[in-house]
Amino acid sequence: MNNQSADTSSCFWQPFTQMKTAAPPLRVRSGNGIMLELEDGRRLMDCISSWWVTLHGHCQPEIVEAICCQAGKLEQVICAGMTHEPAEMLARRIVDLLPGNLAGVFYSDDGSTAVEVALKMAFQYWKNKGRTDRTRFLAFEGAYHGDTLGAMSVGHRSMFTSAFKELLFDVDFIPFPATFIGDDEVAAKEDAALACLDRVLSAAGDQYAAFIIEPLVQGAGGMRMCRPEFLRQVEKRLRDYGILEIYDEVMTGFGRTGEYFACIKTKTTPDIVCLSKGITGGFLPLAATVCTDDVFYAFYDDDPGKTFYHGHSYTANPMGCAAGVASLDLLEANREPFKKIEAWHQKGIKKIEGHRLLTRFRICGTIAAMDIDVPDAGYLSRTGPKLKAGFIERGFLLRPLGNVLYILPPYCITQDQIHSIYKTIAEVVETL
Ligand SMILES: Cc1ncc(COP(=O)(O)O)c(C=O)c1O
Repeated sequence: MNNQSADTSSCFWQPFTQMKTAAPPLRVRSGNGIMLELEDGRRLMDCISSWWVTLHGHCQPEIVEAICCQAGKLEQVICAGMTHEPAEMLARRIVDLLPGNLAGVFYSDDGSTAVEVALKMAFQYWKNKGRTDRTRFLAFEGAYHGDTLGAMSVGHRSMFTSAFKELLFDVDFIPFPATFIGDDEVAAKEDAALACLDRVLSAAGDQYAAFIIEPLVQGAGGMRMCRPEFLRQVEKRLRDYGILEIYDEVMTGFGRTGEYFACIKTKTTPDIVCLSKGITGGFLPLAATVCTDDVFYAFYDDDPGKTFYHGHSYTANPMGCAAGVASLDLLEANREPFKKIEAWHQKGIKKIEGHRLLTRFRICGTIAAMDIDVPDAGYLSRTGPKLKAGFIERGFLLRPLGNVLYILPPYCITQDQIHSIYKTIAEVVETL
């Protein structure tokens, strides 16, 4: 830090960034649709929806208008003992799109807090039911659920979490059968994962409060994808042992997997669903943890000790909720604009699948990913930054996760734009 510097950017401590060695950040002036404009006049195609949040496109006019209109009416109000139309309307619209008995919507601020709420809710659910022995959690190897302490506890342990290891609670991890197009070992991987789950459950199945799952796609863990039928098998086992099923749909929600929610695609019925990122179309921070009637009514009691004592200053911010309603209007009025993107990815992958360095192609709805076959695989692979620089040079914002390259575009993308991304990938990978 140098507070005497005229360079104002030096006060801004960036997330996930080693400030000593990182290149100076790109300065962004504006956004429009899929394009970002930098202060130096360069334009970048946002192929990753910023941090997987931008649903329709940057500065989408209907959402801008909804936020401005709401800001002029009610920008914020305490949400304990008060309510407002945007919060109620968004809650109703989300519940109507979700399957099963999901009926209670608890708002918070971001993906990590949606997960914290889910973990606390599941934990207290059992206490409220008099089951003080159900205190353990299950999660998948390779999972990422956020950066707060509870969310980190149920995530994969790595260099990112090691500084905090004494603060994290113990969780039992089950192997995740990550698969890809043409994978002929997928059935064996699924069998092994289910056998592991069976062993864990037969040893202590009645001690678990919940299993938290990123359905279909593990995002930050490397866009690792699994098959819907595998998740149905997992759900069956959780039902046998009465364990709550938490779906972390922070990334997969609002059309990303080709359906409004991954749980629709998997034909499963989780007890708790965490939502954030695309909930406001990518405009404002907001999150929701949605639970079934059964979970809600475990807290509905004359005993104050059974209350869910959790809340945030900005709970159900009216502008965020209004943006959420406007975003759902767009998703529904444009006849599910996310539906067509999967077919475009398939065509794009066909064009580059023979490339010597590209392997393990996978697609789930609007998300496509592939591995770059380099010796230093993993998040710290030097390939990622090299590729990113090559993409930026050519006008594309792609941000590999180590040696994993993925495309996760806003839904305003056109077929030609997707085509140009794949063409550029082949070009840039060739420079390695
Ligand atoms: C599946 C999942 N859960 C939770 C989070 C945490 O969300 P946030 O960064 O908004 O706290 C993320 C973020 O990438 C995520 O992908």
